Amino acid sequence: MKIAVLPGDGIGTEIVAEAVKVLNALDLKIEMETALVGGAAYKAHGHPLPEATLKLAKQADAVLFGAVGDWQYDNLERALRPEQAILGLRKNLGLFANLRPAICYEQLVDASSLKPELISGLDILIIRELTGDVYFGQPRGRRVATDGLFPGADEAFDTMRYSRPEIERIAHVAFQAARKRSRRVTSVDKANVLETFQFWRDVVTEVGLQYPDVELDHMYVDNAAMQLVRDPKKFDVVVTGNMFGDILSDEAAMLTGSIGMLPSASLNASKQGLYEPSHGSAPDIAGKGIANPLATILSAAMMLRYSLDQEAPAQRIEAAVKSVLAQGLRTADIFSPGTTRVSTLEMGAAVLRAL
Ligand code: IPM
Ligand code: MG
Repeated sequence: MKIAVLPGDGIGTEIVAEAVKVLNALDLKIEMETALVGGAAYKAHGHPLPEATLKLAKQADAVLFGAVGDWQYDNLERALRPEQAILGLRKNLGLFANLRPAICYEQLVDASSLKPELISGLDILIIRELTGDVYFGQPRGRRVATDGLFPGADEAFDTMRYSRPEIERIAHVAFQAARKRSRRVTSVDKANVLETFQFWRDVVTEVGLQYPDVELDHMYVDNAAMQLVRDPKKFDVVVTGNMFGDILSDEAAMLTGSIGMLPSASLNASKQGLYEPSHGSAPDIAGKGIANPLATILSAAMMLRYSLDQEAPAQRIEAAVKSVLAQGLRTADIFSPGTTRVSTLEMGAAVLRAL
């Protein structure tokens, strides 16, 4: 088994280091190779996704990814910004299925800004389409308007689009995932306004006919955003497009207490995957040793499960995380009075002990 380790920027290096220790402790035959990505790669090689890094990622069974992005690169032209690295990896590896589980650990019910009874026992799986939609649609750019409300004015535009096969394959992922859970899928769209998402709804409905044992309902994205904080436990599997999924998964993260707890998996058709915490590079706390490594450690568990076929060690990691939470250990983002505040390194060490 070969893993490409791409720590990236900001807290990426700190949190990935802890996940690597956890993987090493499992005594599996895993070969790991590290490479630069994001702003760090731009600094060293002039590009956020250097050829060598992409090659390494393509050859690996899985990629363990930290995070990319830093204010110092915000003024670069778009093609050179750190975010292009993760977008380029998703596109080049065909990682169309993004799984973002939002699980509220019992010990963290008080860390959420929502009332404990709303989130206690919460277990949602957000499935975000990851290689289409307005993120990648062409054409896009800036131009002088020839029509619209202000002809002659500068304008910018992007293209929202989805083809039938793109919708079908992500719908299958959602229905199949639901079969392993409570057999409910909510497809989130904006069919009341957007052509692209009326088509999305039609295609998901068609695919749903092949899964009569799974209950399917549809929800507009604005309503879904509201229901997620009103009564989140009514969701099981949520499937949606790239942009809505980006937004809703950050919202869902907050239901669990901290985005510092949320792992994610991005898979292609051959189960090759990229595993990363759902949170970003957090440059404001980088280097301070206070970042929460648990989302990355849990991402490593997802990697073992989905790409490396190692269910037992995946469960060992998840159990170890639960155990450190039960011990009352908390990084700053999930700290509450009465618990013990620990650093990134201490949290990683505690997981290793629990393993
Ligand atoms: C995410 C991030 C990325 C996205 C950025 C960093 C490009 O927000 O993974 O959710 O928008 O997909
Ligand atoms: Mg996001």
